[in-house]
Amino acid sequence: MKQPTQANAVQQPIANQKRVIIVGATSGIGLTLAEHYLAAGHLVGLTGRNESVLRRMQDKYLGTAYIEPMDVTKPILAAAQLDNMILAMQGADIIIVNAGVGFIDKSLGWEKQQLTIETNVLGFSSICSAAAKYFIQKKSGHLVGISSIASLAGSDATPSYAASKAYVSNYLAGLRKKFIKMKLSIQVTDILPGFVDTPMGQSKQRFWVVSTDKAANQIIRAIEKNKKLAYISKRWRLIAWLMKILPDWIYNRI
Ligand SMILES: NC(=O)c1ccc[n+]([C@@H]2O[C@H](COP(=O)([O-])OP(=O)(O)OC[C@H]3O[C@@H](n4cnc5c(N)ncnc54)[C@H](OP(=O)(O)O)[C@@H]3O)[C@@H](O)[C@H]2O)c1
Repeated sequence: MKQPTQANAVQQPIANQKRVIIVGATSGIGLTLAEHYLAAGHLVGLTGRNESVLRRMQDKYLGTAYIEPMDVTKPILAAAQLDNMILAMQGADIIIVNAGVGFIDKSLGWEKQQLTIETNVLGFSSICSAAAKYFIQKKSGHLVGISSIASLAGSDATPSYAASKAYVSNYLAGLRKKFIKMKLSIQVTDILPGFVDTPMGQSKQRFWVVSTDKAANQIIRAIEKNKKLAYISKRWRLIAWLMKILPDWIYNRI
């Protein structure tokens, strides 16, 4: 990992400066979250496969942006890379596990399903458990996972994606319970976006689409308020409620 140079490492820290690591920070929600935290003066670790975006961010925010190229589909290596980044940043206060893929594929092709599971399930678990182990030994921290409104029900168009996001939310709930039982002050926030205007969020049937700026603002606010769960945008709470009460005969037709 490239370290800040002597010239740019000297930077006045802001009051209450946080060290935030974003796994999957090269595009969409993750990149906008990184921009918001960096613009506010926090130290941010950015990861992802797209090295040119990582380098661009490092050059733009010299001394406060740390980068680590990472592919979460190599879960053991990715967890070690997360540990490296924590060391380079001399710790982490918030770790946001945002990396994810999703495809609409009604043909049930295996390749895309496998990539979805490798990224959203195996990669997610590996990064989350490495983050959890770090926070446990530090006895504090804030773990944030980006799930989806799709986690709330099975999907005929994207069965692997919806199932993978149910896994994400359930995994986060398990870690939250673990930290509570261990009486540790480690927060866990589960983020459930509806539709966000990103390269991934380009569905023909989308509605209530929000910009990445709005999504990032709401996610940051949810983290600051130690929310257990946050819908992005907030009106998706209504859809979540409807999904819970909808009888099967309606659910199976929509
Ligand atoms: N957009 C929506 O409408 C929406 C709705 C609900 C939930 N979400 C969730 O929000 C998260 C972000 O999605 P987005 O819409 O912002 O999508 P995006 O613009 O495609 O960004 C996805 C991010 O994940 C990273 N990523 C993907 N595969 C990776 C891998 N193997 N290793 C490391 N990083 C990887 C990408 O980085 P590289 O390509 O550089 O690796 C990129 O930074 C995802 O978890 C997604 O499921 C999005």
